[in-house]
Amino acid sequence: MPHTTNKKLIVGNWKMNPSTSVEAKKLARKFKHAAVSLNHTEVVICPPLTFIPLCTGRTKTAHFHMGAQVASTQEESGPHTGEVGANMLRDLGVEYVIVGHSEQRKRGDTDAIVAARLKAVLGQGMTPILCIGEHSRDESGAYLDVLKEQIKASCGDLLKKVAKSIIVAYEPIWAIGAAEAMKSEDVYETSLFIKKVFADLYGADMGLKVTVLYGGSVTYRNAPDIISIGKVDGLLVGRESINAPGFIELLKAVDLLG
Ligand code: PGA
Repeated sequence: MPHTTNKKLIVGNWKMNPSTSVEAKKLARKFKHAAVSLNHTEVVICPPLTFIPLCTGRTKTAHFHMGAQVASTQEESGPHTGEVGANMLRDLGVEYVIVGHSEQRKRGDTDAIVAARLKAVLGQGMTPILCIGEHSRDESGAYLDVLKEQIKASCGDLLKKVAKSIIVAYEPIWAIGAAEAMKSEDVYETSLFIKKVFADLYGADMGLKVTVLYGGSVTYRNAPDIISIGKVDGLLVGRESINAPGFIELLKAVDLLG
């Protein structure tokens, strides 16, 4: 299910928050309510697994979608203690799954593991949000090779018709949980580079179409500039996505961009 609309996509990555199901339900209810009045923006929330059924609700809400923070590498149900399969997420109404977040790569996800998770999510017809990002930047531009390698290692083996569903979230690791986001001009330059890597892998049309999000210290204040100057298709938001007033403000500000 590729993200084919030209609406902006705002993804809230709740990480291991909030602490209780009561708080999770409250947050989801507020964001659903805010999503209904959006015209140019789609919202995805990615709560911890245990909260997903509580946040989904019985009826579909306009512009509001459910996401997950991880899916197992295993494609079939079976003897995989502690794992939650992409098939089970889909069964809960999940449409988007974050894959390869730097916090998971830090806990041991290699490129091969990221590729397996990606394949499992795609196999269930859901949209993977593939996170890539460099640890640091250097004058010589070696960080661009890091990004290229991450893309190639995770999707290089996929057929174009499958790979076209992938959303890329560019999250420079040094900008995650930081005081400030990356400069919007640099976001623009890097998103162009990412599109070029996809064009080289799958052809110019795919390079133009691939959805690229930016993530790393996004707030309601910097979101409009990152979208309009950085020219990305949306945002992957961490801390601000569990701050109800801030996230709602962010959604409104992005929606106003049209
Ligand atoms: P942050 O996190 O917005 O709190 O920097 C972003 C992320 O890790 O996805």
